[in-house]
This record gives sequence, C-alpha cells and structure tokens, in this order.
Amino acid sequence: MRQIPFHRPAIGPDEEREVLEALRSGWITTGPKAKQFEKDFAAYVGARNALAVAHCTGALHLALFAIGITPGDRIITTPFTFTATAEVMGYVGAEPLFVDIDPATFNLDPDLVERALKEDKSGRIRAIMPVHFAGHPCDMQRLMELARRYNLKVIEDAAHALDARVQMDGRGMTAIGTIGDLTCFSFYATKNITSAEGGMITTADDALAAKIAVASLHGMDRDAWKRYDASGSWYYEIHDMGFKYNLSDVHAAIGLAQLRRSGELTARRRAIAAQYNDAFASNPGLEIPRTGPDVEHAWHLYVLRLRPERLRIDRNEFVEQLRKRGVGTSVHCIPLHTMHYYQRRYGYRAGEFPVAENVFSRCFSLPIYPLMSDADVAYVIEAVAAIVDSALV
Ligand SMILES: Cc1ncc(COP(=O)(O)O)c(C=O)c1O
Repeated sequence: MRQIPFHRPAIGPDEEREVLEALRSGWITTGPKAKQFEKDFAAYVGARNALAVAHCTGALHLALFAIGITPGDRIITTPFTFTATAEVMGYVGAEPLFVDIDPATFNLDPDLVERALKEDKSGRIRAIMPVHFAGHPCDMQRLMELARRYNLKVIEDAAHALDARVQMDGRGMTAIGTIGDLTCFSFYATKNITSAEGGMITTADDALAAKIAVASLHGMDRDAWKRYDASGSWYYEIHDMGFKYNLSDVHAAIGLAQLRRSGELTARRRAIAAQYNDAFASNPGLEIPRTGPDVEHAWHLYVLRLRPERLRIDRNEFVEQLRKRGVGTSVHCIPLHTMHYYQRRYGYRAGEFPVAENVFSRCFSLPIYPLMSDADVAYVIEAVAAIVDSALV
C-alpha cells in the first residue's frame, strides 16, 4: 500500500551545499549566512527590514516586546490558531482577546473585531494579531483601517503565509510582510520554506527593526556577533533586556537555499491545491477551502471540512480511515479557548467561539507539499472520495 506521510521537507543538494559551506567555514552560529538570509528575504518579500530569529514564536515575542506591550494589555487575536500566537502574550503579561473567525476564510472576522473594539470598556486593547490561517490572507484592508481608527499596532502572524498576497486599496495585490507594523514568519520543518527551525520579522519601521535586532541577542550592540571576527572587538554594551533568539548560520544556510526555491515550492503547493479543489468541489460530503480573486493563497495547509449532515462517520473516524489507507493527516487547529491553560489563566470557556468550534469539529488537513508526486495526489484524492462514497447517507 502507498504511504503518504502528512509532510516531508523538500531538502535537496542546494540546502546540503549551503549547510556544508557553513559547517566548513568555521563560523556556525549567527554570522554572514544569517545576514545574507535577512537581506535576501527582505528583497524577496519587498520589505524594508528583515530580522532573522530562532523561530516564529520568538519573532512574535520580540514583536510584542518591541511595541512596548506591558502587563494587563490586551491583544485581539483568533482562537483558531496554534498556541504560539497567543502563548507569547503571556510572556509579557498581556491577555489574548479572542474574537471568532469568518467560516469562509478561517481568519479573524473583521465585523467581530470591530464589535469587540466598540464594546471594549477596559481601554487596554493595544494591538491586533491576525493569523493568515493556512496561507489565506486576512482581510488586511479592514483590519488596518480598524487599527488606525483605534490607534492599535498590527503584528501579523504569517507563519503560514510566505508568498501570500492580498488586495489592498491603492496598492493592488500586496505581499504579506509589507502591510502590518510587524510581520512574523516561521521556517519550522513543515512550513512553505524551512530552515529546520527559524523565523523572520519584517517591518518598514527602522526604529522597531533596530530595537528587535538588539533584543534578539541579549540586548547587545547590533553587531556584537562580530566580536570573534578578525574585524571585531571584545567590547560590547548591553542596552536593554534581551533574549536568546538569534538564528544560527547553519539554520540560515538551509533557509537561504530554500528561499531561492520558494516560488517553485509554492507553485507546486498551489498546483496540488487546485487538483484537490477540482476533485472535491462537487463532492456532497465535503466542503473545500475558500480562495478568490482578492487573494493569492500560499496553501501552507489544505483544510477540508466534512458535511456531517451528509455522512455517517465523523471527522475522527474519517481521519482514522485515511490512516488505514496510508494517508497521513493532521487537524488544524484545536481552538485555544477550549484548552486547559487558556481556560485557567484567562477564564475562557468552551462554547464562546462557535464558528471556530464548528470548523474544528469537522475539519482535517490533507498532505500538501512539493515532494508529493502526481500519483501521490491522485491516491489521496481517491482515498478521500472512496471514504465519502462508503459513508454518504
Ligand atoms: C500560526 C502559527 N504561529 C506561530 C507558529 C510558531 O512557529 P515556530 O515553530 O517557528 O515558532 C506556528 C507553528 O506551527 C503557527 O502555526
């Protein structure tokens, strides 16, 4: 039987060559490759500044630190995300203010964001942290307008959204990474490009970029990493509280090679998504993910929803049957407000965000990655269709 794992990273000879070069150079931690990765990434996305860090979680934390979030502040975000998005708010004593999602896009519903802002009596909402779920951009036009009107910062969690674009008034199709005050990307093993572990922050604000550069390495001078270099000096100053979030050159080497292939890798994801959409659009047991002319989807995830009223089996059974047929799946995401930690710390309760809960109850993610062959994609399509056929009411 064919075995199709949920994910396999597309690591090739370029990545191997870059890593070997870093290993043999005698400089394996943050250095020239990390700096080159920042430069190439900024150029690729069209951002003024890009700062390489150890992971997207660290990127999000640094973003909150840089905009001066303090204990008791509140940040609007989605419950339909991975814990890292809201976890970092706890690092700085802030509180995630969850707002339900739009069932079409799985992203923050701007009408509900507006309502939350209108109804707020705390006066402590300082920022919005939209997540471009699965690689479908949020409605950034509306969210940026709300942020400007209520004087909020926008930190985008773009862990899923490298290569995504969204229509913006006066700018046309606009790359994620060039819209909010700060945008955080992930290069975790499953992401559209990977550095095994890694992240990047983009911003047009030079002062925020300078603050993050210092904070990402213990609060040291910006170029303190050069102190062991022939041109470096042993002296460094500590300017502020900082963190250990720098990206090593070994990781950056993988990222550099992956970035050069990003267009090709995303194109393959888009082609697979198109095949899935064609195959499932008219299937009575399934609901395919949205895309539209207002967005260029990055297709980090392909999230299918079952139509429970048409099927005799639930999501868990469906996923189990796919596993038996050799197809690896995952479920994105378990809504955060249903998790113990968020309930204990912030008082959230199950039932509060019905759209996120409904989507969660009937969704699962199919394999979608460049190493899948056409035969793999065809096999997944057949397996899904066969399970629906056997379970239709
Ligand atoms: C939406 C979202 N945000 C943040 C992260 C954290 O990324 P990293 O593993 O690079 O810290 C992830 C990781 O899966 C994610 O899915």
